[in-house]
Amino acid sequence: MRRKVIAGNWKMYHNPAETKEFFEKFTELVKDTPNEVIICVPYIDVAAALESTAGTNIKIGTQNLNHEEAGALTGDVSCKMLQDIGIKYSIIGHSERRQYHHETDDFINLKIKAAFAHDIVPILCVGESLLEREKGIAKYKICTQIVMDFDGLTAEQAKKVVIAYEPIWAIGTGKTASAEDANEACKWIREEIRSLYGDEVADAIIIQYGGSVKPTNAKELFSMSDIDGGLVGGASLKPEDFAEIVNFERNENI
Ligand code: PGA
Repeated sequence: MRRKVIAGNWKMYHNPAETKEFFEKFTELVKDTPNEVIICVPYIDVAAALESTAGTNIKIGTQNLNHEEAGALTGDVSCKMLQDIGIKYSIIGHSERRQYHHETDDFINLKIKAAFAHDIVPILCVGESLLEREKGIAKYKICTQIVMDFDGLTAEQAKKVVIAYEPIWAIGTGKTASAEDANEACKWIREEIRSLYGDEVADAIIIQYGGSVKPTNAKELFSMSDIDGGLVGGASLKPEDFAEIVNFERNENI
């Protein structure tokens, strides 16, 4: 059975003092979980987050990286810099970066390769817009992203990527994909990976769902056959809410 991987995406929220406060509560609440827990924080919070989680079962990631080692790239943070301070995970290709920073699949592919070269596991986001879903091309869109973003990766690398299926229309909108629709899209992704890399990689790769995951819907979503956890934005900002999502198995109301 695949493990569950539950990641938080704080986006542009929380300062270092709030980060410390968050972990003072959160660490205790999730210490017994069998699930893998990652929180992707803003760069400014990385030091506080690493310090607050040292010796715990919580892993810290970032939300982006630059694929160059170093250079005249004002405002960017390189994969090498992140490696040097012990970062092991980074979100890559989030739809907000694809949309507002015009990140293309070619560029995202470069970042994934750079992440692997620096021992950082990519949490790769893919997903369709509402229009693409309505026009019946969601599968085409997601599978194209997978083919482009995985270009040139070895099977060994591919197996380690955490894929987050995030329908754009469900992000931050309060609208969640139905568990069946989310599972269907995760299956499309798994089958695309199967055609690229074969059974071993397809059956092992972690595919999360993201888009308005909350304490009230996490159990239903994460219990589906092809959903191996979630990428959680808004609901990862409060320790109690995110802990409930991480501890979804204990939710007796569903
Ligand atoms: P949300 O964000 O949970 O607030 O919808 C998810 C994400 O953007 O990763």
